[in-house]
Amino acid sequence: MKRSIIITGGAGFIGSHVVRLFVNKYPEYKIINLDKLTYAGNLANLRDIEDRPNYRFVKMDICDFEGVLKLMQEEHVDGIIHLAAESHVDRSIKDPFTFAQTNVMGTLSLLQAAKAYWEPMGWQMQHCAVPCRFYHISTDEVYGALEMTHPEGIEPPFTTKASSGKHHLAYGEKFFTEDLKYQPHSPYSAAKASSDHFVRAFHDTFGMPTIVTNCSNNYGPYQFPEKLIPLFINNIRHRKPLPVYGKGENVRDWLYVEDHARAIDVIFHQGKIAETYNIGGFNEWKNIDIIKVLINTVDRLLGRPEGADMDLITYVTDRAGHDLRYAIDSSKLQRELGWEPSLQFEEGIEKTVRWYLDNQAWMDNVTSGDYQKYYEDMYKNR
Ligand code: NAD
Ligand code: TYD
Repeated sequence: MKRSIIITGGAGFIGSHVVRLFVNKYPEYKIINLDKLTYAGNLANLRDIEDRPNYRFVKMDICDFEGVLKLMQEEHVDGIIHLAAESHVDRSIKDPFTFAQTNVMGTLSLLQAAKAYWEPMGWQMQHCAVPCRFYHISTDEVYGALEMTHPEGIEPPFTTKASSGKHHLAYGEKFFTEDLKYQPHSPYSAAKASSDHFVRAFHDTFGMPTIVTNCSNNYGPYQFPEKLIPLFINNIRHRKPLPVYGKGENVRDWLYVEDHARAIDVIFHQGKIAETYNIGGFNEWKNIDIIKVLINTVDRLLGRPEGADMDLITYVTDRAGHDLRYAIDSSKLQRELGWEPSLQFEEGIEKTVRWYLDNQAWMDNVTSGDYQKYYEDMYKNR
């Protein structure tokens, strides 16, 4: 095997797309999916690649320093792509401790294990001279919230393939750029921000070859249905209320998950050490507008009169500390590494809604909790 890479959190939403991409695209690499299988980890997300010879699943907590170090030695790991995290803002408001434990202490433990293995080799695999790399996946939420200076939307200064659709508007002049000061507001983003600082500190203090990327909201198949898009698609299908926080005016910048996975591939292989890259689709949407698109799309695909389910919209108490607007400027990544989103938002949403409607068994498995038995059945006796 040419390279041996640990992908943490590979059983989660984004991680499963990254694992699939790497396993398929690089048969000469060994891809090790290290995941604790929390409520958010689902091995059924990877059923199509689980028997590949270049794939291995290891059930492990990133906080297990000894376990990670042993695994790195055993597999001669030269790269870590770190996605494992607690990722839902609402949960972080209820239980910040778990977020600090996993996102901060877990990342630190992983960094310490990588340092213990790589530093004595001069940050390079001795047997093949492959340089080591610790790639940390983070979020745009570390930058805090942007103002909404143009509630009706303005033409943004950036254009991309994905942004040429008719809904593409910006809701302010400012965007998150890589040099912006961190101003996290939620316990989730505070914990992610702290982990980003630890990763950079390991570069600055010990010379560890690190990269950090901060991405906007992802959408697509296999997302846990506590997040807006899969939750609402499932609720519309079952004609259940759609709990819209506040007035539904908050703006998020949405990127199709496979485009994020492609960006991670490009950055892992070509990104400059110690750099930060922002990843986003220049694709801002007010929550309420996206919810209306979801209702129209689900209704149409299910053969219901389009918009018949608008009355499911239910305004509820706003999320505490709800960030108003996120908008990523990913022009550095486009300019320096040539990455750009491949999908128009309209295409991506259609594809996503179809996927959830066509994969009701996956959704039922998750909502019933049955998915957590998958590991027991598939892996315990191997
Ligand atoms: P997710 O919640 O779907 O998956 C997280 C995965 O991490 C799960 O498989 C879970 O079992 C695993 N995990 C949790 N704690 C662990 C631990 N202690 N040890 C090992 N594994 C553990 O998350 P996601 O939405 O796929 O996000 C992945 C990463 O991308 C996170 O770091 C998140 O901060 C970042 N991110 C997410 C988004 C988004 O829109 N979802 C946007 C930008 C960045
Ligand atoms: P979410 O998918 O939780 O992602 P994040 O908080 O990381 O951006 O939420 C996306 C947006 O949708 C956010 O502004 C909160 C809002 N939201 C609702 O209005 N209702 C809901 O039930 C959920 C889960 C989210």
